[in-house]
Amino acid sequence: MDKAKIVINGYGTIGKRVGDAVSAQDDMEIAGVVKTRPSFEAKLAVDRGFDLYASTSERIEAFSKAGIEISGTLDELLDKADLVVDCTPGGVGATYKDLYVKHGVKAIWQGGEDHELAGFSFNSEANYDDAIGRDMTRVVSCNTTGLTRALYPLDLEFGVKKSRVTLMRRAADPGNIKSGPINAIVPNPISLPSHHGPDVNSILPHLEIATVAVKLSTTIMHFHALNVELEKDFEPQDIIDLYAGRPRIRFVSGEDNITSTAEVMELARDLGRSRSDMFENVIWKDSISKYHGELYFFQAIHQESDVVPENVDAIRAMCELEPDGVKSIARTNKSMGICK
Ligand SMILES: NC(=O)c1ccc[n+]([C@@H]2O[C@H](COP(=O)([O-])OP(=O)(O)OC[C@H]3O[C@@H](n4cnc5c(N)ncnc54)[C@H](OP(=O)(O)O)[C@@H]3O)[C@@H](O)[C@H]2O)c1
Repeated sequence: MDKAKIVINGYGTIGKRVGDAVSAQDDMEIAGVVKTRPSFEAKLAVDRGFDLYASTSERIEAFSKAGIEISGTLDELLDKADLVVDCTPGGVGATYKDLYVKHGVKAIWQGGEDHELAGFSFNSEANYDDAIGRDMTRVVSCNTTGLTRALYPLDLEFGVKKSRVTLMRRAADPGNIKSGPINAIVPNPISLPSHHGPDVNSILPHLEIATVAVKLSTTIMHFHALNVELEKDFEPQDIIDLYAGRPRIRFVSGEDNITSTAEVMELARDLGRSRSDMFENVIWKDSISKYHGELYFFQAIHQESDVVPENVDAIRAMCELEPDGVKSIARTNKSMGICK
């Protein structure tokens, strides 16, 4: 296949990042991005050189009135594409399934959709091989991606007997003015355990995991406290060595004065990352501890960006551009500036 032609339907928080990440690859390109309305993001998409399409023909007039050039409709765009990355809001993506199937394009949905929609949930390290040649895939949510990256290698090397995770979730994304601010700690969901554990099981079905989640008055990152019982004995240094070798884990430490998610975001800004994104799981090296024989540590997850490299790898597997997951991860990481 020449470069795979990719559509981004839903050019918001995740969609615009996936658009830039796809553009940074040499084996795939953006065929067009889809907007419902002529927002600033529509103008920026055109400025970035992307062909802009309206979600339906009825929407075209609004773009014309705003002086934004439109190349056609989603329906027309899908005829020119190999794969659509659906980044529309959770639940909306499912309404497009019939259209994607009608046009015979492969489709990736995000974590806001149910596993059953695609029948397959993806994480680059855990199941790249199973995505090869697939027509439909769901890239799991930011939290599930972060948990899978942390638990998959632990299970591989030490065997996970049981994992218990407390997720402290950001209340809303920074650009969202509809969901905040809040001055509260919100058990979410109140019924326990939360849905995050079963979502990890959509990728690692055998893994014992129980999760609880609360929403906090912050917008910048999620924060996880993990407690894991392992089959094999370990020392904290063994876990440090294990994670040091994983491609999408970055260590920070209190010794370096990174003592909060705010300082992690400052680090991302100082690294010169686009949009100050932190694509890796950020694990506090000095939190990795053994207590009563069990493993404990803290990690922070940048909800707006950690799923972005996973979308690129999912495209590569589904379009059969690279048979080796390790090589795909390395290519994606290099192009996005993700390195140790
Ligand atoms: N943000 C996160 O923290 C995060 C992390 C991981 C996964 N996810 C998942 O990623 C998906 C997208 O989330 P997001 O945070 O990127 O949402 P978002 O910022 O709200 O972006 C979604 C975009 O979709 C567009 N849209 C709305 N209705 C549409 C329709 N009917 N057809 C086409 N486009 C439509 C909207 O743009 P216009 O209406 O202006 O065109 C909007 O900007 C969800 O499944 C979510 O659960 C989100």
